Amino acid sequence: MYVPITRPWFDDEDFALIREPLETGWIAQGPFVARFEAAVAEFTGAAHAVACTSATTGLHLALAALGVGPGDEVLVPAFTWVSTANSALFQGATPVLCDVDPHDFNVTLAALEARRTARTKAVIPVHLFGLPVAMGPLLDWAASHGLHVVEDAACGLGAVLDGTHVGRFGACGVFSFHPRKAVTTGEGGMVVCEDAGLADTLRQLRAHGARPPSTPASRPMPEFLRIEYDLLGFNYRLTDLQAALGVGQMRKAARIQTLRQARAEAYTAALQGLDWLACPAVPAGVTHGWQSYVVRIRPEAFPGRDLDTLIAWRDRLMLALEAAGVSTRPGTHAVSGLALYRERLGVDPLDFPGARAAEGLSLALPLFPTLTDAEQAHVVEQLSVVFGAVGPP
Ligand SMILES: Cc1ncc(COP(=O)(O)O)c(C=O)c1O
Repeated sequence: MYVPITRPWFDDEDFALIREPLETGWIAQGPFVARFEAAVAEFTGAAHAVACTSATTGLHLALAALGVGPGDEVLVPAFTWVSTANSALFQGATPVLCDVDPHDFNVTLAALEARRTARTKAVIPVHLFGLPVAMGPLLDWAASHGLHVVEDAACGLGAVLDGTHVGRFGACGVFSFHPRKAVTTGEGGMVVCEDAGLADTLRQLRAHGARPPSTPASRPMPEFLRIEYDLLGFNYRLTDLQAALGVGQMRKAARIQTLRQARAEAYTAALQGLDWLACPAVPAGVTHGWQSYVVRIRPEAFPGRDLDTLIAWRDRLMLALEAAGVSTRPGTHAVSGLALYRERLGVDPLDFPGARAAEGLSLALPLFPTLTDAEQAHVVEQLSVVFGAVGPP
């Protein structure tokens, strides 16, 4: 048996929907994008949803729309996908890496405050793997320093904190529809926000900077002759082909979430006996989005072993699991350890012990809605088998 890390779930409804743009011939951004946006707005409760080609381009749009630019600093977690930091670089701003808590993988307020300067313009909290960041204290802190908050909710569809869907706490929030995410369009992203003016700017920036005319026509003229271009925009438009799939996927988003949650809870119950592994904790008031089920090796279970030894041991476990038919991945990157950021930002990976431990000790287990009982049992069983075969570090 081979259990992949993910397996997207498509059904006849998705296949039928994708046929429609092919049949009408309208395959670029059009009516399906509008329907997909409406579906995500309804699911999250957001006032506005603006589709784009990925969460990466969504984060870029968000920072551009908020006026982040050269000379500005943007606080980002050191443990995240590279796009979080890249969005600041795209705007000529400087991403400032902040360490994370290696227990829950999210950035801490103390780390953000430690890296804040007079140049800090924005902060991008990341709801990593679907676990909401504690937004209450973060929003108060950001407001007291006049910082924009852009939520990286790439992993956050279905994640709710105290009754509010993530992505709705800051100025805007950005979702991803990559196949490793709960709902997928192949590639795709969505920026949600409450402010109509911000939504208009996001729409303008994603479409080459074009916007509808601001003044009435002095003589009869079709609107397409009066489009205005007064911003430097991009082409970050999602296609109707992708959005048709998104519409189908959103129709079953709640079902997908329920299935993912059930599988996550089953892992947590089945892995209780393994004292060398810590399962993700779900704090009170939180609905986890379960984009990934990421366990971590507990250093306390191996007294006297240093981090490098444990990381090398985790790597051996991953290789052995792959050979045993279980695909795993590290949670995500310690961006602070990657060449581009070390050199360009002048950071020392050792200054980010939380991110280093999070990357080196984490294991994302297979999690997807069509995971079967037999597949999940195989993953659980092989964790013990492989531990026995590899031996302790
Ligand atoms: C935290 C985080 N931010 C941003 C992204 C980028 O998403 P996309 O692949 O849609 O550009 C990802 C994707 O893995 C992510 O995990």
